[in-house]
Amino acid sequence: MWPRALPLSPPFLLPLFFNAIDLTAAAPAPQDSPAYQWQSQLGSIQEDWQKYVRAPSSTTILPVSFVSNETLGYYTQGNVTNPNGLLTPGGEPTILTRQPATSGSAAPDVTPVIVVDFGQNIAGYLSIRFAGASNSTPGLPGIRLAFSESIQYGYLTNFSDFSRSDNASSISGDTITPGSDQIAVQPEPYTWTDTHGCEYGTQVCADGIHGFRYLKIYLDALPADAPHTTSYGQVAIDSLSVNYTAFLGTPDTFTGWFESSDEQLNQWYYDAVYTTDLCTDILDANSTDPRNAASPGVLGKLVLLDGAKRDRLPYSGDLAVAARTSYLTRDVPQAARNVLADLADHQRADGWIPPASINNYSLALLDYPLWWVANSYDLLMYTGDTGFFDTYYQTMVNTLDNFYPSVTSPATQLITKGFGVSGSYGDYAFLPRTGAVTYFNALYVLALNNAAFIATYLGHASDASRWTARAQNVSSAINALLFDPSAGAFYDGSCGSSPCATHAQDGNSLAILSGVANSTRAHSILSYMDTSMSLPYGHAFYDNDLLGSSFSQRVYAFTSYFEISARFHAHLSLSALTELRLLHSWMSSHDPGITLWEAIGPSGLPYEGAFTSLAHAWSTGIVPLCSTYILGLVPTSPGFLSFLLSPQPADLAWARGRVPTPNGNISVTWNRSAELGFFYLWFEAPTNSKAEVNVPVENASADVYVDGRIAWRGGEQLGFDASYRDEEGEGYVSLQIEGGTHTVTVGFSGS
Ligand SMILES: *[C@@H]1O[C@H](CO)[C@@H](O)[C@H](O)[C@H]1NC(C)=O
Ligand SMILES: *[C@@H]1O[C@H](CO)[C@@H](O)[C@H](O)[C@H]1NC(C)=O
Ligand SMILES: *[C@@H]1O[C@H](CO)[C@@H](O)[C@H](O)[C@H]1NC(C)=O
Ligand SMILES: *[C@@H]1O[C@H](CO)[C@@H](O)[C@H](O)[C@H]1NC(C)=O
Ligand SMILES: *[C@@H]1O[C@H](CO)[C@@H](O)[C@H](O)[C@H]1NC(C)=O
Ligand SMILES: *[C@@H]1O[C@H](CO)[C@@H](O)[C@H](O)[C@H]1NC(C)=O
Ligand SMILES: *[C@@H]1O[C@H](CO)[C@@H](O)[C@H](O)[C@H]1NC(C)=O
Ligand SMILES: *[C@@H]1O[C@H](CO)[C@@H](O)[C@H](O)[C@H]1NC(C)=O
Ligand SMILES: *[C@@H]1O[C@H](CO)[C@@H](O)[C@H](O)[C@H]1NC(C)=O
Ligand SMILES: *[C@@H]1O[C@H](CO)[C@@H](O)[C@H](O)[C@H]1NC(C)=O
Ligand SMILES: *[C@@H]1O[C@H](CO)[C@@H](O)[C@H](O)[C@H]1NC(C)=O
Ligand SMILES: *[C@@H]1O[C@H](CO)[C@@H](O)[C@H](O)[C@H]1NC(C)=O
Repeated sequence: MWPRALPLSPPFLLPLFFNAIDLTAAAPAPQDSPAYQWQSQLGSIQEDWQKYVRAPSSTTILPVSFVSNETLGYYTQGNVTNPNGLLTPGGEPTILTRQPATSGSAAPDVTPVIVVDFGQNIAGYLSIRFAGASNSTPGLPGIRLAFSESIQYGYLTNFSDFSRSDNASSISGDTITPGSDQIAVQPEPYTWTDTHGCEYGTQVCADGIHGFRYLKIYLDALPADAPHTTSYGQVAIDSLSVNYTAFLGTPDTFTGWFESSDEQLNQWYYDAVYTTDLCTDILDANSTDPRNAASPGVLGKLVLLDGAKRDRLPYSGDLAVAARTSYLTRDVPQAARNVLADLADHQRADGWIPPASINNYSLALLDYPLWWVANSYDLLMYTGDTGFFDTYYQTMVNTLDNFYPSVTSPATQLITKGFGVSGSYGDYAFLPRTGAVTYFNALYVLALNNAAFIATYLGHASDASRWTARAQNVSSAINALLFDPSAGAFYDGSCGSSPCATHAQDGNSLAILSGVANSTRAHSILSYMDTSMSLPYGHAFYDNDLLGSSFSQRVYAFTSYFEISARFHAHLSLSALTELRLLHSWMSSHDPGITLWEAIGPSGLPYEGAFTSLAHAWSTGIVPLCSTYILGLVPTSPGFLSFLLSPQPADLAWARGRVPTPNGNISVTWNRSAELGFFYLWFEAPTNSKAEVNVPVENASADVYVDGRIAWRGGEQLGFDASYRDEEGEGYVSLQIEGGTHTVTVGFSGS
């Protein structure tokens, strides 16, 4: 249900805590009053978020243009006739011709090249409809293909910006191509489809799936492919198409959505959903990371991959963001669950949980088992999947009670990299940090508290109290040992026996989110990050380059999600939106546009050049940010049976959206008039649910109404369970309200 127009006479709903005869109901606003005028416009905008959706309309995608830029040399080169032909199936073909040097001629023709743009980053299998080719001897004319996500890469060379079978790239394991895909074009018209494998034994090979936006097609042959192909002859191409294999996220597939008065923010939300869609796919041995990652435990199952181009592999840590985006917009909870279950099935005897199936589940990361715990908590809270813990509760016990104590220093109670097996362990970015690292320990507190909640919910009281006590111990130790008063932020870790004079975005942000940092420290950390980490393209993940070159120039949307969340957590909503806008303005205005990058490096370029994934699901934090803090919906029990509804308007005039839950949808719309001092909130939630609703007020003397009845006036509750709170200047009135359909208004009765 949705309030397309304001219900001027709201249905009579007796609020749970309203137990008196209706003496306090406000008289309806007179028709000429500003309140009446304003409220009569509420909800008058029809929901029109569908216009932002980026998904292709079907799984068959055609190219939209060919690329022509003489400055960069990205142009149709050599003898290419009718280049537009391949954009229109069934019309006149595009013909690439190359003649060898003839006697009397100084040189052969230049290589014919055409570069095609599919309009946006996509993932799938290319097919080429050939309209015929010359039948020269020896060999057929060869076509080579280079795929790339961004125009900066892939054109200056003859190779894809990443290709899983490219044995010259830094990922090895499958070495059938040099980084381009090869075709021996047959004389008769036919359709060639890019499948993994070789046309002749180990010659004329192609890679199969690609994540890309641009495609360079050139008439050429690898010497190693002789005599099957030659660099000469003529090839006619009728058309190209891509069989899109990822989640096809057309508007009808959205289970949750978001819209606000800021159209850019809205577009970026849907760009992020599309990025996660590109990473939602069935794991297949020939399309995943070639490094011994094709595990029978997940093959053939829907999963959340890290990136569309690379590594095309599910990782537990990445799910901290990717799974939330998926739960909030898509009805495929199994995509995250399949991954968490498979990794748990491969838990090591000492309790460590692998981060991914890569290298036969042996990639040694220290943080990802903690993310496995936090992500299992999210699975429970967002999808209500209690059954998961029938099988995997003990996995959580083993990792928290066996593995992490084995890497904890008894002297400090802190996880200490270097202790136990952990010396050579990495993290989400393989950072060379050592000692008692704030990030690992703040994340440990978060995971212990998540685990304690799960334990309490499932009736394991002694586990819950042990983990809560340990979380308090670790939290105290972080505060006592890792805080740098001169910066007003936590140190990152140790250099030798003393703390390193470097501070990281990840640990400091998680210290706030896990409650390790009290509000004084939270504000000091956030102010330090503002002054020491700001870049034109977001906030850097380190304040200096002590641990690695250019670290202070590198921005991860992944860790920025934790910082921006921490800003909202501390009710610094304007600074949260400022940082979010920097990040997304940059990525959306730089090639390939739309999809979100793995990380941004110096000068705002992809941080690892051509190797960088430019469609990475861990960078989609904008989706949970809009849902959690702008709509304001946070599950406080499994499946949102109880939830917090605490919108932070920041500089927005209105927002609305929906979050799916296993018991039904929660729909929310809010609107405000700063000028009149009014705030209007409407929500609909499953009738068996309970909400803690926070509405922003200027001060404690605001009037707050629930369903047209006064609930708070003169600093006191009136027949409702309500209270006032103030977070560093942002005040709100908090009310306990049962599910169903309700309005909560500030400054006017809403009736
Ligand atoms: C919000 O209120 C304004 C009037 O202040 C109105 O014009 C607008 O349509 C409302 N938007 C929504 C989404 O209700
Ligand atoms: C060609 O590329 C250059 C360098 O990126 C750019 O400045 C120019 O606008 C491009 N020209 C066209 C026609 O796209
Ligand atoms: C280009 O190739 C076509 C055949 O497809 C041929 O007729 C034409 O002469 C060639 N053009 C040049 C400049 O070589
Ligand atoms: C790309 O391949 C063509 C044909 O083999 C060759 O002429 C050209 O030099 C290559 N370009 C680069 C940048 O290697
Ligand atoms: C690529 O693979 C070939 C054949 O397996 C091998 O001879 C060559 O050394 C490899 N090159 C690189 C750069 O790994
Ligand atoms: C996977 O690749 C191998 C080797 O190229 C090939 O034999 C096999 O048919 C491919 N399987 C699928 C399902 O594409
Ligand atoms: C597209 O690819 C999928 C998955 O590989 C396959 O099942 C399907 O048949 C393909 N569709 C077409 C039209 O080739
Ligand atoms: C993976 O590791 C397991 C356990 O160590 C071992 O039994 C199995 O043979 C390995 N598989 C591969 C493909 O290396
Ligand atoms: C807390 O730390 C103290 C030592 O600092 C230790 O004795 C105690 O066992 C710890 N408690 C928990 C629950 O880990
Ligand atoms: C936060 O902790 C610091 C250090 O223990 C202390 O100085 C400060 O007063 C605390 N702030 C609050 C609000 O408790
Ligand atoms: C929730 O909303 C979806 C559309 O997003 C709708 O199809 C579904 O029926 C709704 N569920 C309930 C229980 O109303
Ligand atoms: C409280 O806010 C109202 C506007 O909502 C304002 O008129 C009033 O002066 C404020 N009171 C105090 C004590 O600040």
